[in-house]
Amino acid sequence: MTREIEARLEERLAANRRGGGETRIERQHEQGKLTARERIELFLDPGTFEEMDALVEHRCTDFGMAEKRVPGDGVVSGHGLVDGRPVFVFAQDFTVFGGSLSEANAAKICKVMDLAMKVGAPVVGLNDSGGARIQEGVASLAGYADIFLRNTLASGVIPQISAIMGPCAGGAVYSPAITDFVLMVEETSYMFVTGPDVIRTVTHEEVTKEKLGGAMTHNSVSGVAHFLAASDADCLARIRELLSYIPSNNAERAPVVPSNDPPDREIPELDTVVPEDSNRPYDIKKIIRGVADDGLFLEVHEHYAKNIVIGFIRLGGQSIGVVANQPNHLAGTLDINASVKGARFVRFCDAFNIPLWIVEDVPGFLPGTAQEWGGIIRQGAKLLYALAEATVPKVTVITRKAYGGAYCVMGSKHIRTDINLAFPTAEIAVMGPQGAANILYRKEIAEADDPEAERRRLVAQYEEKFANPFVAAERGYIDEVIRPRNLRRKLVASFEMLQTKRDTMPTKKHGNIPL
Ligand code: HXC
Repeated sequence: MTREIEARLEERLAANRRGGGETRIERQHEQGKLTARERIELFLDPGTFEEMDALVEHRCTDFGMAEKRVPGDGVVSGHGLVDGRPVFVFAQDFTVFGGSLSEANAAKICKVMDLAMKVGAPVVGLNDSGGARIQEGVASLAGYADIFLRNTLASGVIPQISAIMGPCAGGAVYSPAITDFVLMVEETSYMFVTGPDVIRTVTHEEVTKEKLGGAMTHNSVSGVAHFLAASDADCLARIRELLSYIPSNNAERAPVVPSNDPPDREIPELDTVVPEDSNRPYDIKKIIRGVADDGLFLEVHEHYAKNIVIGFIRLGGQSIGVVANQPNHLAGTLDINASVKGARFVRFCDAFNIPLWIVEDVPGFLPGTAQEWGGIIRQGAKLLYALAEATVPKVTVITRKAYGGAYCVMGSKHIRTDINLAFPTAEIAVMGPQGAANILYRKEIAEADDPEAERRRLVAQYEEKFANPFVAAERGYIDEVIRPRNLRRKLVASFEMLQTKRDTMPTKKHGNIPL
């Protein structure tokens, strides 16, 4: 290599590293944000980042763009390692043309996505962009569509994770929306299809950017985001944690992470975790954390539809997806949001060979016109469909209520669940004793000398007959009624036994989940 060539290369690489320059980097820092390059360095195992396309530049000549070129063109892309496993990454660089998406930088993103698909490794996108590069017009839109297609084709083949670490507006939101998990950083990130100004003009609503599409809004109201991060560093650490629970692609299994937590550890507290009064709430997360290896539970969608709890634990080192009713919120009923939240998570786990543990305490679907008119019939069917089609190992534990249609939906034996366990406190019936007695014995209650006493007697009679796990166990719908303290041992043994499980779907192009 001649000295001259070497100097030219060095000069270009230095320009690439400078990005939009000192002033814009300072502005980024003042806003509490790291730069694209700093984010990647913090995210990957130290020293493992291999940058690609560092010298790519845009080819736009309109609007004086010919004179404005920055090697890399506003996105830093390449691959590296997370806990020693390969991961592809791209980070939009807000200091260069506001991180806006040009034809050239869309091609960089597509290149890493294509390579990730070939080698079977996750893609992590760190978004911080003003959207389509306005100077480039339709060429930029084409770049977005190229990415959307790849997001769709990669769905279910390699995990795709999107972190929103700045603006993400207009059609740009649809790439993260197709990916498996979305993380947002508090105070610095926002997502919306149309911003506050457009909304004011069209619907005359006044709303701030933060309220419309800030991190908490999408974590708690819309459900678009799965994780809320306090800072850039927190966000990147969470992605690393999330990756530790999932495999690199759909042909692999999640990494096994050995722990010193004994597989047969007894948990005496679980014997009393379900209150004697069956209408009293309790926290289902106590059971999840109680049985998990080292008590670790990575909750997904923590702030959204809290009546269902989803997330990852490990049992005997194996990664497990948990779907649990939460009696602490809306009595654990299934509503539209909970059903959709649960269904999408189940489909992720099924696509990526992550076994499912279903923890059930559900009095039924939430009643009301809002639910019926919102389509609880179609929306609730999503969870049923997702759990029925899942072929990964499935284990259900009924802790208390399993009533009505919700009994069928929440991993019943009939939708090919492999192991069904119940606590002695389980109540498996068509409906709750109060409602059942009122319907079955309306006439007897009305005609009794003391209707209230008669009603109590009939409720007790119904409870005696159905509010227990034994009828279901007699029929083999429940494989075993277990002592709660033994739950961890039973689960570890079940999932270990199921490791070689094989099940299939009938040949088809794809099903038609009730979307
Ligand atoms: C080109 C852009 C840009 C864009 C920002 N910049 N967005 N350049 N195309 N889309 C440039 C700015 O000109 C500025 O350049 C630098 O980036 C930083 O932007 P600022 O405005 O100074 O930053 P800030 O005040 O933080 O505001 C950020 C912002 C704002 C809210 C994102 O820049 C903005 O509103 N941008 C336009 C957003 C937009 O309408 N995008 C198109 C959406 S439509 P200088 O040289 O001055 O530093 C879309 C369709 C996608 O994206 C469809 C997909 C199907």
